Amino acid sequence: MITIYKTKNYEELSRKTADIISAQLILKPHSVLGLATGSSPIGTYKELVRRCSEGTIDFSKVSTVNLDEYRGISGDNDQSYRYFMNTNLFDHVNIDKTKTNVPDGMATDSDAECERYDSVVSSMNGVDIQLLGIGHDGHIGFNEPCETFPKGTHVVKLTETTIKANSRLFASVDDVPREALTMGIGTIMAAKCVVLIASGKDKAEIVKKAFFGEVTPLIPASILQFHKNAILVADEDALSECNI
Ligand code: GLP
Repeated sequence: MITIYKTKNYEELSRKTADIISAQLILKPHSVLGLATGSSPIGTYKELVRRCSEGTIDFSKVSTVNLDEYRGISGDNDQSYRYFMNTNLFDHVNIDKTKTNVPDGMATDSDAECERYDSVVSSMNGVDIQLLGIGHDGHIGFNEPCETFPKGTHVVKLTETTIKANSRLFASVDDVPREALTMGIGTIMAAKCVVLIASGKDKAEIVKKAFFGEVTPLIPASILQFHKNAILVADEDALSECNI
């Protein structure tokens, strides 16, 4: 079942998503949060930081698992997703960093790292809320369009579309890593609740396909139509192709 929240703009979207996460933390201080990177959640993280500094929410008992990490860059590289999470959220809230998890992009044996990451996720007794963005090709985490829905954490080759889209954050397109480690669709679907956030006209077409079109691994986010508790928080621009 999908619940859709339509917001006026990115700011309202960020507040609404922060409301959902705050409610979770208030109801269950020991929550396990599945977190995402990209531009979409930045406003949500800012709002969570603000609420934590005001004392409205508390991260001291929270554990986190991130969706993905580039392969071949270390956590202190400012392009890594570990660095993104530290600088956008973890460094500014009262979280115990030893309870925050991001796949290790520098692991020499990536397959072993994927297995290790899956056991970390399964040791947590379920992710309470998994936050997601959406790529222009419908990817979630780094699950790119493919023939079948991948189950667990795995290594992926990034598509040209994703490399190009993500190159805005690098000095040049050649600097974008070509591979990543990502949770699988199976791991994402096992979360008790998934919250996908989408903002902007450039996401309108893929939001329509993913949430109102055919469920297919060619549009990985479309599987969320089968999730028992999926929430789409999208602004008017991202919903502009949908009749709602
Ligand atoms: C990257 C991340 C995804 C994210 C996507 C969209 O590829 N791996 O998790 O959802 O970008 O990012 P943005 O929110 O910047 O559009």
